[in-house]
Amino acid sequence: MSKRNSSGIRERAVALIVLAAGESKRFKSRTPKVLHDLCGLPVIAHVLGRLAGLGAARTVLVVGREADSVKAAAKAVDPKIRFAEQTKRLGTADAARVGDEALGAFKGDVLVTPGDTPLLDPATMRDLLDRHRATGAAATVLSAHFDDPTGYGRIVRDPDGGVARIVEHADATEAERVITECNAGVYVFDRAALRSALTKVEAANRQGELYLTDVIEILRDKGERIEAHLAPDARQTMGINDRAQLAEAAAVIRAQIAHDLMRGGVTIEDPATTYIDATVTAGPDTIIRPMTFLRGATTIGRGCVIGPEAELVDCTIGHDVTISRAVARETTLETGASVGPYASLRPGTVLKPGAKAGTFVEMKKTTVGKGSKVPHLSYMGDATIGSGSNIGAGTITCNYDGETKTKSATIIGDGVLVGSDTMLVAPVTLAKGAVTGAGSVVTHDVPGHTVVAGVPAKPRRKRKPAPKDSKKKGNGK
Ligand code: UD1
Ligand code: CA
Repeated sequence: MSKRNSSGIRERAVALIVLAAGESKRFKSRTPKVLHDLCGLPVIAHVLGRLAGLGAARTVLVVGREADSVKAAAKAVDPKIRFAEQTKRLGTADAARVGDEALGAFKGDVLVTPGDTPLLDPATMRDLLDRHRATGAAATVLSAHFDDPTGYGRIVRDPDGGVARIVEHADATEAERVITECNAGVYVFDRAALRSALTKVEAANRQGELYLTDVIEILRDKGERIEAHLAPDARQTMGINDRAQLAEAAAVIRAQIAHDLMRGGVTIEDPATTYIDATVTAGPDTIIRPMTFLRGATTIGRGCVIGPEAELVDCTIGHDVTISRAVARETTLETGASVGPYASLRPGTVLKPGAKAGTFVEMKKTTVGKGSKVPHLSYMGDATIGSGSNIGAGTITCNYDGETKTKSATIIGDGVLVGSDTMLVAPVTLAKGAVTGAGSVVTHDVPGHTVVAGVPAKPRRKRKPAPKDSKKKGNGK
């Protein structure tokens, strides 16, 4: 079972147990901490993502509070993950026992990690595993020096420097609280040693919990070898126990996301005021200007200028698109489209190549065709606009019937000129080449290449469509 890797270290199979059943009391939330959003992904997704490259034979996630939602979030990252349910939250030792039971006949090492440490560097975990394998220890704990160790378990060492035990902050004496070397909550155990030690853990402590940390002292008292591997920086081992720590971790991840995008050719003028989710992609030569928020499944092509003050949620942005001071959600902007300043694009908005949604424009479930423009002060809802059309300032699709509570469609063909302040009372169609005069209230369809003004009445009887180039004035008579 054990072969040697390139550094001559014996390779043993490793299984992962991730502890995510806790109550999250310090979070004071309806939602357990592992499901809170951290740069577009739940905390647990970051944790599992960073464990993915360890080559684990199997991974068990211990779930408890809101088990179904936690399972769903985990499966989205690792479809093969196994679950173990901790029915009573008796402490981390009990959670580890529940996880261990789900490992079946597995033989080898077990890496146990908390579900609330999302900044761990995979390289640190590989070093931890290597150290464990190289020394042949029964347990190797990841430690870190915190300037402010408040809340963390402290590593208590023997006079000869060996790890004696871990004492929780709540149980520590004044002298022990001075220790800055802390337990990161990440350990590698020989599975057989872990199993036997877990049966001996007792809840004889201030919190009345079964502490996984007690396993260290139990094994040491049996004469087993215990090692500690010091993380190169403490920050990566930080746990998210409350919302202040959530914000601290988010700042770290945000900086990493911005750094990766900039390395990929994206200009971010001010990373400190730019908030980009881990799920967002952007192409080279795109410029992201300050105070911009890029959320969810947003993808951005090359050569765009996004911001200042843009918020894009789940948007698909092509190449050479410009967006200034706008909010867009579930919107598609094709090559060369332009938005803003001050626009609100709601779900189902599509701007075809070169189309424009300008200043103080709101759109919803609307497609604006190639090169068509809605430059000023308009609301377009449930509308389809062809190519090369211009929608005058202040035009509104009256798409909602307050009496029947239904929404109706407005269809505008190619090359239509809608005059300023036109009310398009849906359902209504303005066929190709139609023109409306300023201030028209259009309650009925306008045939192709026809001009209407005022409040054009419904035609009295059906007529043949007007010949292509004829123009007719409808002035409400
Ligand atoms: C734990 C360690 C502490 C260490 C710190 C590092 C113990 C007793 N203490 O403290 O030494 O410095 O992590 O971040 O282990 N959980 C369960 N079931 C339970 C209790 C907890 O699954 O019954 C899970 C939690 O969801 C969490 C993880 O275990 O993901 C750690 O629990 P938490 O309460 O955050 O432990 P800390 O107090 O941070
Ligand atoms: Ca914690």
